[in-house]
Amino acid sequence: MLVTRQPVFRKFWHPVMPLSKLQGGTPQPFTLLGEDIVLWLGVDGEPHALKDRCCHRTARLSKGRCVNGALECGYHGWTYDGTGRVIRIPQLDEGREIPAGYCTPAYRCRAAYGYAWVALEEPLAPIPEMPEYGAPGWRTIFQFHEVWATSPLRALENSFDNSHFSFVHRATFGVAAQPRPSRYELFERDGGFHAETVIAATNPPAFHRVSGCTEPITQRHMRNAYFLPFARRLDIEYPSGVRHVILNGFTPIDDGRIQLCQWLFRNDTEADCPAQMLIDFDHVITREDKDILESTDPDAVVDLRRRGVEFSMDSDRPGILIRRQLMELLAAHGEAEVHR
Ligand code: FES
Ligand SMILES: [Fe+2]
Repeated sequence: MLVTRQPVFRKFWHPVMPLSKLQGGTPQPFTLLGEDIVLWLGVDGEPHALKDRCCHRTARLSKGRCVNGALECGYHGWTYDGTGRVIRIPQLDEGREIPAGYCTPAYRCRAAYGYAWVALEEPLAPIPEMPEYGAPGWRTIFQFHEVWATSPLRALENSFDNSHFSFVHRATFGVAAQPRPSRYELFERDGGFHAETVIAATNPPAFHRVSGCTEPITQRHMRNAYFLPFARRLDIEYPSGVRHVILNGFTPIDDGRIQLCQWLFRNDTEADCPAQMLIDFDHVITREDKDILESTDPDAVVDLRRRGVEFSMDSDRPGILIRRQLMELLAAHGEAEVHR
């Protein structure tokens, strides 16, 4: 599935970058679904997103600077507000008005969970809800955002796939001696599904503060939720009562790259397990996924008829459901699947 050929994905919110990256006052470029955009913070601290192209002589606006909450092009100083309208032309003769229509496209941009999220067109669904964010007894850790050479569908299949732990993650939490995947319970809902299972997880002493458990093999009760089109929430509960809740946005950059965004919410304290230890722990695991995913073909097809063999394997059911829901989304919005 080549994401840039499916305009419906422009109608969803995608996490683009941490607000902290914008706080230095320098506009930042990003590519979303093949579209070059620029982001900056207004004086009120709210993020804005425009097409990264000046309407004068096409310079990239991300090469400009922020001035009093507006964005000044680095070539001749034409200045834009958050709606994309040119509000200043330094060379214009005194008393002359800026002609209407001098503008560049603006996109919907919103702050959520410490990130700027962008929808290139009117969104069909809200940003996934994370009730743990800012809730008493919970802490939020901004773990990482990084570029992977794969597609969002490949990353999503992987994030619901419980048959790869004994292979991809055998050096970390996977139990090599137990390759048979546990069974998922699947519950469909509007805009996604909920998938629940319990797995065995290796728990060496180095992981004890992460799990809150000391047994050599522990259990993870996994409540995994899919949000159309490219987000998921994974709530891992250990027997200790520790909850390790991950939010992932698999932001489509173009047809061969995504940006993995990962937040972590925990119901413990820094004294129980330092944030940096949790970042390092999850980063090692996601690097294991990155390494294998980057060896796959990013043009993962959605059409179920192309992958009949998977119907026979129980552990592929979540991936099949993701494809079916994506296929229904594409069908509902009048776009056909594109195969290479
Ligand atoms: S190209 Fe932007 S002001 Fe000239
Ligand atoms: Fe994995």
